[in-house]
Amino acid sequence: MDTLTIPRPDDWHLHLRDGEMLRAVAPHSAAVFGRAIVMPNLTPPVTTTEAALAYRERILDALPTGSPFQPLMTLYLTDQTPPGEMERAAAGGVHGIKLYPAGATTNSASGVTDLRRCEETLAAMEAAGLPLLVHGERVGDDIDIFDREAAFIDTVLLPLLARHPRLKVVLEHVTTAAGAELVTGDDPRLAGTFTPQHLLYDRNHLLAGGLRPHYYCMPILKRRRDREALLEAATSGHPRVFLGTDSAPHPRHSKESSCGCAGCYSAPIALPLYAEAFEAAGALERLEAFASRNGPAFYGLPVNEETITLERRETPVPVSYTAGNAELIPLRAGGTTAWRIAVSHSP
Ligand code: DOR
Ligand code: ZN
Repeated sequence: MDTLTIPRPDDWHLHLRDGEMLRAVAPHSAAVFGRAIVMPNLTPPVTTTEAALAYRERILDALPTGSPFQPLMTLYLTDQTPPGEMERAAAGGVHGIKLYPAGATTNSASGVTDLRRCEETLAAMEAAGLPLLVHGERVGDDIDIFDREAAFIDTVLLPLLARHPRLKVVLEHVTTAAGAELVTGDDPRLAGTFTPQHLLYDRNHLLAGGLRPHYYCMPILKRRRDREALLEAATSGHPRVFLGTDSAPHPRHSKESSCGCAGCYSAPIALPLYAEAFEAAGALERLEAFASRNGPAFYGLPVNEETITLERRETPVPVSYTAGNAELIPLRAGGTTAWRIAVSHSP
């Protein structure tokens, strides 16, 4: 198979930022994806429906003229998010509520310190049919960074699902064998997204002959056996696993620093990277469900009518992009992808 035509995919986990960075990166996602679940971890975070709708307008303004790309907005959950905001959010077209455990990652300082402080808001989310989108890491000085996802599953996620029987949850950017096993189980309330970097790389790539900051993201790349389990889960054909790039741009100077930011910028090459991963697993025919069908089914949205065609052709990855005055280094900068996007058109 040297070409593959699929309905236009969506990105169910994306960081678009704001200002000059937004204007630099939004066109990259819009060139490939039909819709994206947009992360709310701006400074200050997007905690209200009003702020989300204003952010949505700024995203639409940053798109090329006539682009049909649809940003799907989310709210940032805090200890103080009022239950009443959930009904406003659902009525205002917000598609999910993001849980960042406080201190887990970039701009998570306002995140949730203890989910039990949010019980009424979680119940309101259930009633409104709003899914909880989870950064699944438990943070604490006593928890090793490689064990954070498993600790979160056992001590936060499973009890949460037991307390809220109607709550839909997406475990975002699954990074461990434990997470992969959980989301490929039979709980219809629970789905998982997978990033290209966690399917293609592990900690050995992050630390290959030196420290490679552009491979540093949260949750951190794990062991090789975790990556193998993620690849098996993502390519399994399970209906509740789908694409979420977690493309997270930072200026070069913030990544190449004595205390570098977490985040891989993958938007322009994400789809070819997923094609590589699926091909390596001998499952190219399952890319369509993962990239274009399973996400809309979970979120109750239609599959995109447009199609996109991937072609097997070695294609260079730019060494950098410009974002205002800053440089932006993509994943695999200066390398090549085995696939490229050949055609993208309407039905
Ligand atoms: O690597 C990451 N970068 N993980 C996250 O959870 C946040 C993201 C960001 O916003 O940069
Ligand atoms: Zn993210």
